[in-house]
Amino acid sequence: MSKTIIVSNRLPVKISKTDGAYHSSPSEGGLATGLGSIYKQGDNVWIGWPGIEIAEQEDKDQVTKELKELSLIPVFLDQEEINQYYEGFSNEVLWPVFHYYASTYAAYKQSNWDYYKAVNKKFRDMILSIAGPGDVIWIHDYQLLLLPALVRQELPDVSIGFFLHIPFPSNEMFRLIPWRSELLDGMLGADLIGLHTFDDVRHFLGAATRLLPVTSSANIISNGERSVVIESFPMGIDEKRYSSLPLQEDVKQQIELIRENFQNKKLILSIDRLDYSKGILQRLEAFQLLLEQCPECIEHITLYMIVVPSRDTVPQYAHLRDEIDKKVGKINALYRTMDWSPVHYYYRSFPIETLSALYYSADVCLVTPMRDGMNLVSKEYVASRINNDGVLIMSEMAGSSKELIDAIIVNPNNTGEVCRAILQAINMPLEEQRRRMIPMRQLVAKFNTSHWVKIFMDRLKEVKLMQRSMQAR
Ligand code: G6P
Repeated sequence: MSKTIIVSNRLPVKISKTDGAYHSSPSEGGLATGLGSIYKQGDNVWIGWPGIEIAEQEDKDQVTKELKELSLIPVFLDQEEINQYYEGFSNEVLWPVFHYYASTYAAYKQSNWDYYKAVNKKFRDMILSIAGPGDVIWIHDYQLLLLPALVRQELPDVSIGFFLHIPFPSNEMFRLIPWRSELLDGMLGADLIGLHTFDDVRHFLGAATRLLPVTSSANIISNGERSVVIESFPMGIDEKRYSSLPLQEDVKQQIELIRENFQNKKLILSIDRLDYSKGILQRLEAFQLLLEQCPECIEHITLYMIVVPSRDTVPQYAHLRDEIDKKVGKINALYRTMDWSPVHYYYRSFPIETLSALYYSADVCLVTPMRDGMNLVSKEYVASRINNDGVLIMSEMAGSSKELIDAIIVNPNNTGEVCRAILQAINMPLEEQRRRMIPMRQLVAKFNTSHWVKIFMDRLKEVKLMQRSMQAR
């Protein structure tokens, strides 16, 4: 029987070691949560890195065995591979360039690139060791841009889908990368390339036709031998899960606790992975401006800010964490009173039940990334508003702002505008909240994760049939 092989840098669980034993826990990030449901079906499997270095063969065998029970196949990376492929090339070249931070953060090092190529080959070898005829291979994200072509060279007829979870930048940014053509060639090994938004598709087509000897007709790129379809598939969330969680007894208890702790206060929620692209410092700046300009807000408004630790071995991330600490400290020192703190800041991850209680309780959710492929937090907030109230403030630089058009949409660089949006949100009449929230809830419910997976997989099948019939002519 044929199977679907999902491949991503990170497995949906991460392994950690305590008291000499290995344990698994869910990974952070949209990708892990988004695909959680499909790899468990039938013979499907998920290939990826378990998140830490495991050096001893005996330990590798033990972890492999345990993960096998969960339909997961580990690709082990040694410390140098983690440093150079994951931290170096993926997160110090591709991540900053694709999020328009090239001039601030990108460091182009030949050895990082060499490791990036080598690790992509390592993933290829793992795929080849398990792929059978008729299998479908679905490769994910910027850490594995070379993988589609590497697999294609070995299995010319196999179905390969590729999905990029981060923005694809304008060619003016993308062309800065010394290895830009190799990266595009790598992606074009797929049959179908999925991106979140129409702009990402436009940017990809622009870069490929300018940098490679290919032609394009509408959204199809051809090199004379093969044609590759490029399309947008905005990713959804598991809406049912988020809309049913607030009805659970343990979540209800947490909601009650939040209500008691924040009586008569407007609660503004902010949840992100630690990342400069999320605009966390700029958001704090806007909140500080609000406190400066709105004396009535003092003691009546609280920013509940969760930052989930991420990539803190990459220097820019460690620096950002320190800057956030300072900024939160400054705001609280300036405005705190005996029985009120303006910012409740947490630098850790929380179980989904706690997040659900916060989503359900927050009067406003403030999502203001500088650049974001999709942003699933905004969709999780909407799905959790089962009473149709609450206000979403959304950056126009996030993919989800193209769908959640009834949010208050802001330019995150415009501190004054963000500040005014918060005021508008906390004063918004209930009727207007509902008028905005209902269509957003309907959209998030309809275009959920299963819908996203289905339309991508159906399209991949169609594209493959189209290619085979063209080859037969
Ligand atoms: C984003 C990326 C994912 C990544 C996640 C967490 O959502 O698109 O590919 O897994 O961040 O980042 P990390 O570096 O911890 O895997």
